[in-house]
Amino acid sequence: MDSVWSKTCEIEKREALPGDIEREVVVIGAGMAGILIANALQKSGREVVVLEAERIASGQTRNTTAKITSQHGFIYSGLIDTLGEEKARQYAAANQKAILEYKAMVQEREIDCDFEETDAYVYAQEESVLKKEAEAAASLGLPASFMQKPELTFPNAGAVKFTNQAQFHPLKFLRAITEKLEIYEDTRVLKVEEQTAGKAAEYTAGYASAEDREKEQVVSTNRGIVRAKKVVFACHYPFVNFPGMYFTRMHQERSYVLALENAARVDGMYIGEGEITYSLRNYGDLLIFGGGNHRTGENREGGRYQALRDKAAELFPGCREVACWSAQDCITPDNVPYIGRYASGKPDWYVATGFHKWGMSSSMVSAMILRDLICGIENPFAEVFAPDRLDGQDISGIMCEGAHAVKGLTKRFFQLPAETASELAKGSGGIVMLEGEKVGVYKDEDGKLYAVDVRCPHLGCQLEWNPDELSWDCPCHGSRFDRFGKLISNPAQEDVNRYA
Ligand SMILES: Cc1cc2nc3c(=O)[nH]c(=O)nc-3n(C[C@H](O)[C@H](O)[C@H](O)COP(=O)(O)OP(=O)(O)OC[C@H]3O[C@@H](n4cnc5c(N)ncnc54)[C@H](O)[C@@H]3O)c2cc1C
Ligand code: FES
Repeated sequence: MDSVWSKTCEIEKREALPGDIEREVVVIGAGMAGILIANALQKSGREVVVLEAERIASGQTRNTTAKITSQHGFIYSGLIDTLGEEKARQYAAANQKAILEYKAMVQEREIDCDFEETDAYVYAQEESVLKKEAEAAASLGLPASFMQKPELTFPNAGAVKFTNQAQFHPLKFLRAITEKLEIYEDTRVLKVEEQTAGKAAEYTAGYASAEDREKEQVVSTNRGIVRAKKVVFACHYPFVNFPGMYFTRMHQERSYVLALENAARVDGMYIGEGEITYSLRNYGDLLIFGGGNHRTGENREGGRYQALRDKAAELFPGCREVACWSAQDCITPDNVPYIGRYASGKPDWYVATGFHKWGMSSSMVSAMILRDLICGIENPFAEVFAPDRLDGQDISGIMCEGAHAVKGLTKRFFQLPAETASELAKGSGGIVMLEGEKVGVYKDEDGKLYAVDVRCPHLGCQLEWNPDELSWDCPCHGSRFDRFGKLISNPAQEDVNRYA
């Protein structure tokens, strides 16, 4: 299920890490965040290497809808209420600046990536709520205003309009930006350790002083070791559980996208709040139509794609589907990404995650903030995104993540499987009893069974069968595995155990 971006742009393959090397900064992950961070650091004179487990942009970035906007749904009135006006203003200004940074990069480098300036709208069914959000956003200096009903093929009470936002082709953009970066593909980071002076001395590291050696970061991969002074985790979901404990304060949500021919054009980019939440934008002659949001692992029979297809047929009669795809993103309790130092005990580790499905602007915000932190420059937006923020409002969110994880863990012990393998239809999967054991089974079209251990290798929650995408998904923190047990998406870093 390739996205319209993957179908229309090929990025040249890079070699794997050829052996042990030393660099000043290691960036883990070559998605939009990792690439923009590496690019900003390189521009500031740092020696950077990017390590990518699979291919450039092979994670969520190839499956985005690629709107570049500071309009992130109904976020601003909530941010003012929970974080206060000063931090809400930082969030707004950072994301607004991100749009200008993209525009400047595209112009300066003359990047051919279908970049278009356009307006962004969030529509809803209640005028009073729309007006409140428009006022809140405008009060923070954003180009926002309430507008009467935009012309959409479904009912709405109006929208909040943000002017001069943008949309583009994310892979064409990355193809150009990656040209001058040192990137190794097929290189999965397995472990990151800070070496003490004594241990580091065992290695022939090329740093000049003993002081430098005291703070060496040793990044172990399946291809070799990279020694560095600083490490950035831009790998979508940070996979080192301790310190940081990101698994206690983020979950993942998926949604689904169709590219449609012969559907109505929309003037700008749209997202809904409330009862109707479809996402719309054009790419050339295509309408990119998204929806079906749900927590990863909370799957249901009946099909999210089918529901979206039925809706597309109803709203755009005569349309034709040319591509379909899905993606997921990390959600924090206060809807603000974690961008900054990884954890208090690791001053040389940095993180960029929790983008809440607004990772195009958030990746650029990450690049601005982490470049400044690593270069020792004060950044005016850093405070609101600091990963160590923890106050009264966050507690409820954290408790909620914990409760969800406990549900995922206990389910495996208390819930009996519904079926036996013989009851499974061909081309489907489920948790069944097989030879007295509770296992996950996929039955292919020829009736052959593929059995996996349904304990998630991340922290042991029970995986759920995803009938739409024929995958095993974890409801706790959103790891995903294909029907044969191969890792698709982190925080897990390995395949699930397969039974022969
Ligand atoms: C349906 C959908 C639509 C969206 N549309 C928009 C939109 O219109 N606008 C917007 O702003 N945002 C949007 N988003 C969000 C946006 O797509 C993401 O936030 C963004 O792509 C995340 O980029 P990333 O670089 O953090 O992660 P990724 O693109 O997932 O990159 C992480 C990379 O790290 C690599 N990696 C992982 N573990 C390791 C390891 N151990 N070693 C080495 N490499 C590793 C992975 O292989 C991957 O390539 C959307 C999200 C969804 C779900
Ligand atoms: S993703 Fe954390 S237990 Fe599965």
